[in-house]
Amino acid sequence: MRVSIQDACAQLKRGGVVAIPTETVYGLAAAMSDTRAVERIFMLKNRPQENPLIVHVSNASCVEEYAEVIPNGFDRLAQVFWPGPLTLIVPAKKNAVPTVVRAGLDTVAFRVPNQPLALQALTLAGPLVMPSANLSGKPSATRPEHVETDLGSDFPVLDGGETVCGVESTILLHRESRWEIVRLGALPADAFEHFLGYIPSVSHAKKGSAPLCPGQMFRHYAPMAKLVVDEGSRPETCEWVVGFSDRTYPKGCQVLCLGQSTNPNEVAKNLYKILRALDERGVAEAWVDMDFPSAGLWTTINERIRKAACNI
Ligand code: TXA
Ligand code: MG
Repeated sequence: MRVSIQDACAQLKRGGVVAIPTETVYGLAAAMSDTRAVERIFMLKNRPQENPLIVHVSNASCVEEYAEVIPNGFDRLAQVFWPGPLTLIVPAKKNAVPTVVRAGLDTVAFRVPNQPLALQALTLAGPLVMPSANLSGKPSATRPEHVETDLGSDFPVLDGGETVCGVESTILLHRESRWEIVRLGALPADAFEHFLGYIPSVSHAKKGSAPLCPGQMFRHYAPMAKLVVDEGSRPETCEWVVGFSDRTYPKGCQVLCLGQSTNPNEVAKNLYKILRALDERGVAEAWVDMDFPSAGLWTTINERIRKAACNI
């Protein structure tokens, strides 16, 4: 059910949960300080309790109230990239951020989204936790209809149309005096070089040690359809292909187009919509054209598709 910004904010202030557009994907919002509303988010999404939430705020100065320490470089990153698709993890002032939001960690993640409706909601309703507005494990929602498919047609959604980026924010954590990427996202690693003086490294979950980003442990972005992501095995025939609009595929294949193979922004924007389209059409198996570069935003696209295929 589509709701107005006034209605959305009124519901949030009353302890409700509302889907809100951001520039990356739709978020499932609740007031950060309302632990019952936050617990409802975990239930609605069927989200593991060990997976912490990102706190969204209307501007960088809000973070001071909740951060124990502001790490080196934070101000510069916030100044350059906020509002925008960047999440920064900082040590938490524990009594200011409910344990359930942090999933018991000593840190808390923050982001200022670059979407007018989201910013308006944050200004009117205060800090909001917002995980992606999909059932846990499914592709994120980039359109209001996606939220309604996952959470029901009566679920309140603030309609901001299709999201611009289509993939989630890049998450940075400050550790041993450097920022590192704990989740790839809409901002590629090299976007930070000029401002940090180095390209942040990408940290991967290591077997046997606690992951820096708990969400990386869980199944993600996956449609029901089986995705075949073996680059070497371009099929002679197959029923369904997830591919590019500027390429040709074997005759008889039905092609779902991610966009042009030269335009990673377009491909990222369409990715979850196409993964969801496979299930809407009842597709059992699709071959994914993975023949694309491995730099910049393509790195994120590659990681998302492999996760969706349960291949990493
Ligand atoms: O673009 C986005 O970031 C979207 C929109 C709605 O803002 N939100 C989003 O939230 O992707 P979610 O909950 O789907 O993913 C948040 C990720 C999870 O993998 C979680 O483990 C990680 O952020 N995270 C949150 N707080 C953390 C913390 N304190 N330390 C490490 N990882 C954290
Ligand atoms: Mg998510």
